Amino acid sequence: MNLGVIGTGYVGLVAGTCFAESGNDVTCVDIDEKKISALKMGRVSFYEPGLEELVRRNLEEQRLSFTTDLKATVRQASVVFIAVGTPQGSDGAADIEQVLATAKAIGQAMDGYRVIVNKSTVPAGTADRIRALLAAATSHPFAVVANPEFLKEGAAVEDFMKPDRVVLGGDDSQAIELVKELYEPFVRTGNPILIMDARSAEMSKYAANGMLAAKISFINNMAGLPDGEVPQGGGGSEVAAAYQQAKIQKDAVRSSALASLKQIQLETTSGQDGEHGHGDLPLSKQYETEIKRYAGNTPEYQTWARVMAAQNDRGAMVELLKIKALDLSLQERQYRQWERMEAQLASAVAAKLKSQSRKADAAANAAVRQTATSKLGS
Ligand SMILES: NC(=O)c1ccc[n+]([C@@H]2O[C@H](COP(=O)([O-])OP(=O)(O)OC[C@H]3O[C@@H](n4cnc5c(N)ncnc54)[C@H](O)[C@@H]3O)[C@@H](O)[C@H]2O)c1
Repeated sequence: MNLGVIGTGYVGLVAGTCFAESGNDVTCVDIDEKKISALKMGRVSFYEPGLEELVRRNLEEQRLSFTTDLKATVRQASVVFIAVGTPQGSDGAADIEQVLATAKAIGQAMDGYRVIVNKSTVPAGTADRIRALLAAATSHPFAVVANPEFLKEGAAVEDFMKPDRVVLGGDDSQAIELVKELYEPFVRTGNPILIMDARSAEMSKYAANGMLAAKISFINNMAGLPDGEVPQGGGGSEVAAAYQQAKIQKDAVRSSALASLKQIQLETTSGQDGEHGHGDLPLSKQYETEIKRYAGNTPEYQTWARVMAAQNDRGAMVELLKIKALDLSLQERQYRQWERMEAQLASAVAAKLKSQSRKADAAANAAVRQTATSKLGS
């Protein structure tokens, strides 16, 4: 199929390249001339495991091309993807100006029926606005499909090639079938292509982002929860037993939270050779891998450092947040270790005091007995 992809950032470039890899003829468009010149030579401006090799191969095999000419691209494509930026505005809302401008430009370029697929992350209802702009700009028929993207920077190719799910939203069943066909090579393992209305599809991306943010906030809060005072009473006392019991209960809650934190970190981390998703590994092993990643002079660190060096600001921010989250959980572990040592020490001191006082009592008793005996004898 002839495809056009507007925007060659993370999402557009990865989607366009992977669609070319699965046998389509893809033209990727960007307004950034420097980016397009570099891409024509097979150079990608950010590091994504496996992406540059795929771009080069598909360029050589002439299934992939790059241009700044949106009009010519729209005219030769049957499906046009929108993958431009939707930065956060000053009030926190998504700024969808690039999406709307692109929709208008597509409408003005159309010379026949087109399916327009929006991959940019947009608020629910944006597909209707795209539809209205297209209708105002062209008299040719078209269909609009909402297709949010769930890939993660650092594992983008892997995520696109093996998505957990593909979400397609729209009311034109023929257009949905066409886009579904494009994704079928990527879901051979049986992962679902979920079909719904456009608003639900747009909302699903925000729901997924919200879930991730909630998990991260949860673990950060858990890591900051203080325990009660270490009891003075020592090992065998009732207070100490109650304290230990409360700690065990809290740690039981915390350990599943820590596990989910580790899972988030590993899911958002590029592995070597495109391998990722170590959710089944024991927590201790996951810690070891993560620590190696930050330890310098290990292959894990070098992969990570390369990703860091090539990330744009947002990617760097994501990495910094991940380091902060790891740091918090490591600090929390250390704190717990100290606390255990403190409790052991308190109980050892109490035991020693008890035994000293027992000895002193015994000595005093012996002295009393001695005095009594000598008095009796005299
Ligand atoms: N990066 C991610 O991990 C990720 C994941 C899922 C969804 N998304 C969403 O996908 C969308 C794209 O994200 P991204 O990270 O690829 O953005 P990006 O900012 O890296 O890239 C956007 C590209 O679009 C180009 N562009 C802007 N206006 C254009 C126009 N009129 N014509 C042609 N090109 C134009 C820009 O020059 C830029 O190269 C956003 O809505 C984002 O929220 C991003």
